[in-house]
Amino acid sequence: MDNSFSNQHKNTKQTAYWDDLVNGTTGRYKEAWIKKLVDEHLELSGGALLDVGCGSCAFILAFRDQIRATSATFLDYDETIVEQMRRKIQGDGVYFQVADILSSQVKGRFDLVFFLDMLHEVYSFHGRPQKNMESPVDHLLGVQAVKKAIAHISPSINPGGGIVITDNVLCEEDVTIEVAVLHADIKETLIHFFKDYPSRRMKHEWLDHRHLQINSRDFCILLTQYNKIKHGDTARWATERMEIHQYMTLSEYRTLFADLGYVLHYEVGTPQSAYEEWCNDFKVIKGLERIPQKRITLLAVKQA
Ligand SMILES: C[S@@+](CC[C@H](N)C(=O)[O-])C[C@H]1O[C@@H](n2cnc3c(N)ncnc32)[C@H](O)[C@@H]1O
Repeated sequence: MDNSFSNQHKNTKQTAYWDDLVNGTTGRYKEAWIKKLVDEHLELSGGALLDVGCGSCAFILAFRDQIRATSATFLDYDETIVEQMRRKIQGDGVYFQVADILSSQVKGRFDLVFFLDMLHEVYSFHGRPQKNMESPVDHLLGVQAVKKAIAHISPSINPGGGIVITDNVLCEEDVTIEVAVLHADIKETLIHFFKDYPSRRMKHEWLDHRHLQINSRDFCILLTQYNKIKHGDTARWATERMEIHQYMTLSEYRTLFADLGYVLHYEVGTPQSAYEEWCNDFKVIKGLERIPQKRITLLAVKQA
């Protein structure tokens, strides 16, 4: 990938960004669900781990000790964070690699490979045909890159091992919906969001002073993003405005992993505080039964 293009995004990430990924509500939520899925569906003691898009490596470090992994390989294309982690984490069986997952030669075989909140970045950056942050993501190109990243790593996974993915999920419904926006300041937030979100231009219409018509999947994307503006979190918004977190539905994951020869276990849900905030700000009037769920935690087990 063109370095200056992706560096623009990497350079927006400050220490608080990495802390929040791990210690924020979503970090705790994803950790709990990964542990549950792995405990229930995988017999793992020892084994080799690969963390793709490792960032601060936090979750995998704890997990490595818990299952007494024989090795942990950390891969990320952000050289700054990898060098920080390389200085911090030492010991036998720990390896680092600075590489883009789509063009890397990952050496070795693995029992569990993690893509924790990173595939949406593959979608957001490999899916931009103009290689320019101010132009929207091409959905098909982005999904193609996500599928390629997973297929690229799959041959290196031992039978009986697996892939863990955490990220946000698109709702199955792809329909026009009507949403009541419950507070005037949230409407102002959305007006700002629609103007200042280069990653996707969302067709929408204000039916009156508080009713919004929008596509259901665009609404999913909006729900993840609007609260950075609402809470005045400009540093986080500078990073997030370049990303789309929802790239695939649960049925698309099912098809992809069935084709690759994996059995799928998953949880689709929303951290409670996020869902409460959404219900306080929005009400779905038409087109969906309720506000869609936010996250997927997925364990795909490779068949022998
Ligand atoms: C949102 S952070 C998640 C970090 C960590 N996995 C976590 O859950 O806390 C996404 C990470 O993926 C990395 N990343 C994005 N695209 C990548 C690619 N194509 N190849 C390798 N790493 C990538 C980013 O540099 C970043 O560290």
